[in-house]
Amino acid sequence: MEALKSTTWFGKKIVHLEVTDSTNNEVRRQASKELVHGLLVIANEQTNGRGRRGHSWLSEKQSGIWMSVMLVPDMEAEKAPMITLVAAMAAARAIEESLGLAAMIKWPNDIIVNRRKVCGMLTEMSTDAEGNRYIVLGIGINTNAKEFPPELEQIAGSLCMAKGAAVDEEALIEEFGRAFEYYYDRFIMVGDLSYIIEEYNSHLINAGAQVRVIEGDKELIYTAVGIDKQGQLIAKDEYNIERTILSGEVSVRGLYGYV
Ligand code: BTN
Repeated sequence: MEALKSTTWFGKKIVHLEVTDSTNNEVRRQASKELVHGLLVIANEQTNGRGRRGHSWLSEKQSGIWMSVMLVPDMEAEKAPMITLVAAMAAARAIEESLGLAAMIKWPNDIIVNRRKVCGMLTEMSTDAEGNRYIVLGIGINTNAKEFPPELEQIAGSLCMAKGAAVDEEALIEEFGRAFEYYYDRFIMVGDLSYIIEEYNSHLINAGAQVRVIEGDKELIYTAVGIDKQGQLIAKDEYNIERTILSGEVSVRGLYGYV
């Protein structure tokens, strides 16, 4: 794929591989040579695609977009997790704009279309040999997958299955890059997610719904409200008392299934 056309820094340099272990790993290898803000690594297939919390991520060829971007941000390390929510917002918008499908967000960063997860993100922080910090944002979008193995069938879906037609991956990458750059630049300017709360919450599939919050071996039932400016999930407990749930620590599920 050629450099993106509608962006200033996202995907201006692209490393496109037939196959790699994980595009997140490939960004790290690239970073050991040079830090390039916006460098995009795309692979047609990953042999060791990684998901959040140690899960693996199915990344067969001709079934999805497997890509990672290198970000060299000028901000405090503790703000990095918010980038995942920025990316979720961009992915939801890109799917809506380029395919006309309604995309919802399952907090913090799963994209849901037709009640199936079609896209996930994995943000990792790292430092190069000189101690310069950078972030690897990996995005997996199930575009043209026609089926999923039985253990994923109830959870995963593809855009092609939702739309009933093949998805133009290059157009979707272009749209994602444009949207991500827009939201990311504002995030850096503002320093938190206050500028995006309303839009994010209007896409939040859990809003107003009961969620099971799985924290280690504890499971609590809350009613989700929305995110705050740090990207934490605000939820009410059985006494109507508001709690904030930090991402990374917990897994949020619907009462009767994944969503
Ligand atoms: C999740 O929802 O658990 C996160 C999935 C992230 C998958 C993408 S695919 C491209 C990049 N490379 C990886 O190994 N993982 C991310």
